[in-house]
Amino acid sequence: MSVTDLPEAVQAQSRGRAATGSNQSSDPDRVIHTRRVSFEESLADLPKFFAANGNPVSSHFAASLSSLFPDGEDYFVRSVRHFRDRITDPDLKRQVAGFIGQESVHGREHRYFNQRLDELGYNTRFSERMTKRELEAHTRFAPAKANLAATAALEHFTATLAELLLADEDARNMFGHDGVRHLFVWHALEESEHKAVAFDVYRAVGGSERMRVWTMKFIRSGLAISLAFMVIIGIVLDRDARRQGSLRRHLKEFGRSPVVSKETWRRLCEYDRPGFHPNDRDTTALEEEWRNRFFGTEGELNGNLLKASA
Ligand SMILES: [Fe+2]
Ligand SMILES: [Fe+2]
Repeated sequence: MSVTDLPEAVQAQSRGRAATGSNQSSDPDRVIHTRRVSFEESLADLPKFFAANGNPVSSHFAASLSSLFPDGEDYFVRSVRHFRDRITDPDLKRQVAGFIGQESVHGREHRYFNQRLDELGYNTRFSERMTKRELEAHTRFAPAKANLAATAALEHFTATLAELLLADEDARNMFGHDGVRHLFVWHALEESEHKAVAFDVYRAVGGSERMRVWTMKFIRSGLAISLAFMVIIGIVLDRDARRQGSLRRHLKEFGRSPVVSKETWRRLCEYDRPGFHPNDRDTTALEEEWRNRFFGTEGELNGNLLKASA
């Protein structure tokens, strides 16, 4: 099932409001909560190939993605924080604080997951180090507005993956192990909740459409190639992966996942449309559903909330 077939993924009517030049939040009533959660206990029994059917390709894909997150999240926070004092709209200021809080917790939890993966023989620590080095160089040498444009583009990646995970059970099932699936879907919920913040800040500080679109064109292919490269190298260096049975069969199964479908690529390309805004896709019903499922009265993740935020 593709994302566009789902009732939750309807095109929002807010596009006209959101696409105009503005120094304000595109959704002033939106509240972005920082939830202090921990997945340490849920990941204690993590097997080496945690993905569905012990698939080493899907496991290496999730590990590669996760190894980009902690330093990626730090980069997003630095890029947005740089412009914090130039934001005059109190709603957007409040949402920026929520964005920074959420991204900080994502970074911490993925760093823990990456440590566990490293212990199991993945090269996540090396990938984290490379990512950190590259993104710190970006912050240092690229203009601040270019870093913000890159953050807004990368937030479209996370928002696209987030909507897919929240909407499509097949996409969620790829992660197999309950703890890993919960980590990625909780992250997806919060990425969806704050998907417009970096974009609104970019617009508030006068970022151009030209820079926005060209940054995405560059990042989209670069990130897809880097991820593919990381998965291939990870598997080539992993003897255990070859003991998991036919790699060709695992690769075919991974290729059928909605996460790597043409529809997902098409959604990533929507960002290039003139006047695009993240709220063009209304995901509020999906977010509400998962907030209740995870943190409602009988919430599946209430036990993962640390005392201060429970
Ligand atoms: Fe995040
Ligand atoms: Fe994010």
